[in-house]
Amino acid sequence: MSERVKVLISEQEVSNRIQEIADMINRDYAGKNIHLICVLKGGVFFTCELAKKLTGKVSFDFMSVSSYGDDTKSSGVVRIVKDLDQPLEGKDVLVVEDIIDSGRTLSYLMEMLKGRNPESLRLCTLLDKPDRRVKDVKVDYVCFEIPDEFVVGYGLDYMQHYRNLPYIGVIEFMED
Ligand code: IMP
Ligand code: MG
Repeated sequence: MSERVKVLISEQEVSNRIQEIADMINRDYAGKNIHLICVLKGGVFFTCELAKKLTGKVSFDFMSVSSYGDDTKSSGVVRIVKDLDQPLEGKDVLVVEDIIDSGRTLSYLMEMLKGRNPESLRLCTLLDKPDRRVKDVKVDYVCFEIPDEFVVGYGLDYMQHYRNLPYIGVIEFMED
């Protein structure tokens, strides 16, 4: 089996939409410091692009949770691979994720973070696949809703590859 990637959302479209979302966030958080939590590894590209467009004071922390193996299917098991370095108490926390699929990872993560007493807690995602949801998650900012297809690029991987693509693509598998 080999695979190829077809462009779903171009680099320009992604960039334009991130600017729109950043404008909303800048309005909503006017006068506040934003504590961004990047969900590794997929959220890295989106976090950096978004952060560059935020106008207020921003601090960062990183977390890694896993509900997927090296496969395209959810295992349903959520595990903290790397926890945050800093406490959340009193902070206006914005979690930045690459994609909400089944919702398992983020519903677990948001509940856990809520327990750490942030001043506020919101969720921002680059992509949302609402058709695949099995766990309810409140998502405050969504760049793009996409159909139920496996996507790569802009941080998203297939078997740890393609994260560096500057666009979002759909992966197609072909018999050799
Ligand atoms: P959930 O727990 O099912 O919502 O899964 C969320 C995680 O699964 C994301 O953070 C991604 O790492 C991964 N994932 C879900 N769909 C895709 C996809 O289409 N491409 C790449 N990774 C995906
Ligand atoms: Mg992820």
